[in-house]
Amino acid sequence: MRLGVCYYPEHWPEAMWQDDAARMKALGIEQVRIAEFAWSRIEPTPGEYDWGWLDRAIDTLGAAGLQVVMCTPTATPPKWLIDLHPDILPVGADGRVRAFGSRRHYDFSSPSYFEASKKICEAVAARYGKHPAVAYWQTDNEYGCHQTVVSYSAAAVQRFRAWLKARYGSIDALNTAWGTVFWSMEYRSFDEVDAPIGTVTEAHPSHRLDYRRFASDEVQRYNRMQVDILRAHSPGRPIAHNFMQLFTEFDHYKVAADLDVATWDSYPLGALEEQWYAPEVKARFLRTGHPDFASFNHDVYRGMSKLPFWVMEQQPGPVNWAHWNPAPLPGMVRLWSWEAFAHGAGCVSYFRWRQAPFAQEQMHAGLNTPDNRPDIGAAEAARVAEEIEAVLAAQGDGDFDVKTRVALVFDYEAKWLFEIHPQGADFHYPRFAVEYYSALRALGFDVDIVPVHAPLDGYQLVVVPPLPVVPDDFAQRLADSGAQVVIGPRTGSKTVDLQIPGNLPPGPLAALLPLRVWRVESMRPNVTEPVRFDADGVADDKRAANGTHEGHARHWRDLIELGAHTAHGDYVVPEVRATFGDGHPAYVKSGATHYFASLFDDATTEALFARIAREAGLAPRALGDAVRTSRRGGITWVFNYGPREHVVPADIPDEAFVIGARTIEPQGVAAYRAS
Ligand code: GAL
Repeated sequence: MRLGVCYYPEHWPEAMWQDDAARMKALGIEQVRIAEFAWSRIEPTPGEYDWGWLDRAIDTLGAAGLQVVMCTPTATPPKWLIDLHPDILPVGADGRVRAFGSRRHYDFSSPSYFEASKKICEAVAARYGKHPAVAYWQTDNEYGCHQTVVSYSAAAVQRFRAWLKARYGSIDALNTAWGTVFWSMEYRSFDEVDAPIGTVTEAHPSHRLDYRRFASDEVQRYNRMQVDILRAHSPGRPIAHNFMQLFTEFDHYKVAADLDVATWDSYPLGALEEQWYAPEVKARFLRTGHPDFASFNHDVYRGMSKLPFWVMEQQPGPVNWAHWNPAPLPGMVRLWSWEAFAHGAGCVSYFRWRQAPFAQEQMHAGLNTPDNRPDIGAAEAARVAEEIEAVLAAQGDGDFDVKTRVALVFDYEAKWLFEIHPQGADFHYPRFAVEYYSALRALGFDVDIVPVHAPLDGYQLVVVPPLPVVPDDFAQRLADSGAQVVIGPRTGSKTVDLQIPGNLPPGPLAALLPLRVWRVESMRPNVTEPVRFDADGVADDKRAANGTHEGHARHWRDLIELGAHTAHGDYVVPEVRATFGDGHPAYVKSGATHYFASLFDDATTEALFARIAREAGLAPRALGDAVRTSRRGGITWVFNYGPREHVVPADIPDEAFVIGARTIEPQGVAAYRAS
C-alpha cells in the first residue's frame, strides 16, 4: 500500500524541483510518475535528444528517496514528427483527418508511427532502463482516450484486410460468416473490403464488429512493441499502463496480459457526471461519486493485473473535463484512496502534484494550488499515509485473504456488439454490468470481475450480465463450477460472426436452460412492464399483502418458450419464478441456472440476487445505497458515502477498529480486524 503522484517537472522552473521532491516525501509519497507527455522536450528536433533536464529531474527525485515511474512519451507525438509523417494522424468516422494541437493524435496502424514509437521508446529505455531511481514503467498514456482506438486511415484499412485474411483464410469464408449475400454485398477478394464507414444506411454489422476487433488487436500489437523494448532494456522493472474508467473500446484482458501491473485512472466525480446515471442520482452523489463506480473499476483491473493493480491517477479535487465539475466533499480523497486499497490496490497515485496555470487543464485541481500551497487533497493524502502504517501493523504477516465467492463476467466484445446492433437505443452494456455489480455490492458481497474464459471453480454465485456471444464450453464450465448462476437477457443471442444461432437464443446455453427465445422486444425509456414474483424467501419492502413482490422490467424483453429434451431424452421444463404483467415468464430457473428475461428495476434485481445468494449458501446483508464494505487481508473496511452517520453493528468489538471507530461520519472510513 503506497502513495504516489503524477509530476511534470517540465512545467515548472528547475529551482522548484528539490522543494517539490522534499515535500512529496514529507507527505508520505513514495512513487512519482513522470514524462508521459514530454516528447517535445526529450527530442526537440529530429534525432537530437536533450536528456540533461530529465537526468536532473530523475536524480532530484531519487536523491529525495522517491521511486520514479518512468513513461514512454508516445501519447503526444511532437509537431515536427507529424509534419515529417502526416500519415501518423488518425482518421475519424466522418472520414476527416484529426489534427495536431491536443494529444493522442496518432493512428495505431500507421507504419511511420510504429517506427517512430520504437525509436523513442528505445532511446528512453536505453537511457533510464537501469537508472537506480527508475522502479517501474508506464507505456504511453490512456490508450484510446478521446475516441482514438478506431481509425479509418488507408494504413488501417490495409492492415484490416490482412487481419481478415488471417481470420477467414478465404473470401468465401468471410462472405458466409458475414452473410454478404444480403443486399448483394459479396466480395471477390480481401482487397475489395473497405472500412465500414460512409455507407448510405448502416454498414454491415459483422463488418463493423470485425473492424472493432481488428482495432482492438492493433492496440495490443502497439503496446506489445513497447513492452518488448522496455523488457530488453530494463529487466526486472514492472511495466504498467494506465487504463481508463469503464473504458471498453479495446479488449483490456488482452492488453493487460502483456503487462505486469494493470493500473487505471479514477475520477469519480467526472465519471458520475458523464455516465448514464439519472439526474437525481447525479445530484445525490454529486460530491462523492457513486459508491459502486470506482469499486467496479478496481475489481475489473484487479482481475487482470499480475501484480497488485494501482490507481495511477486519483482525482484530488475538481476536474476540468466533465460538463459540470463539482468539488469533492472533505474526506472523499481519503475515502477513495482507502477504497482502492480495500479492493487490493498496491498504489494510489494522485493526479497531479500541482495545478498547472496554463493550457487545457488549467482548471484541474492538484494536491497543490497553482501558487504552490497544499490543497485539501494533500492533507487527506498525508492522513492516508499515516493510516497505512496502522493498517500494516494490524495485518501482521499472516495470510488473511478471504476467497471471493461471487464472480461477475465482464466482456469487451459484448459492448461493441450491442453498440453495433442495439435493437433498442439505450441498450448500454456497461451500464447493465455495473447495475448487476451494484446490486451485489449493496448486499455486502465482495465481487471478482472475470473474463468469460476464466476458471470458475470456488465461486458460489456467478452472475452473467447480457452476454451475446457465449463460448461453446461455457455451459459446461458453469455446470462444473457448482455455483448458482444468473444469466441476463440476450445471452447467447448471437454467434461469433454476429448471426442468430441456429437453435435461437440462448444458443449454446440451451444445454443449461431448456428454453428458446422466440421473440424479443425493446422498450423506450418511459415504458416499463410489471414483473411479479412470489416473495417467498425475499426480504424486501415491496411485498404486497398477497405475498407477491411487484417490480418492473425495463429496456428489453426476451419472450421465451419453455421446455426442451435433454441429451438423455427427458423433457425438462424450467420453473417459472416471475412473470411479466401479460403472463410471459420473466425469470425462470433450471437446476442451478437462473435466467432473467429482462433488466429489472434495482430493487427487484437486488431482491432476486439476495434470494439466489441464499440458495448458493451465502449470507447477503442489505447495506442500502450509501454504505459499502470490503474485506481484504484480514481487515474489513466500511465506507460511508451518505449524508448521515453509519454505526457498525455491536458484534464487532471496539478494540478491533484499526481506522476510525464504530460510528462513521459522512464521507468517513472505518477498518476493523476480522475475527
Ligand atoms: C486523464 C489523463 C491525464 C489528465 C487527467 C485529467 O485522462 O491521463 O493526463 O488529462 O485525465 O483528469
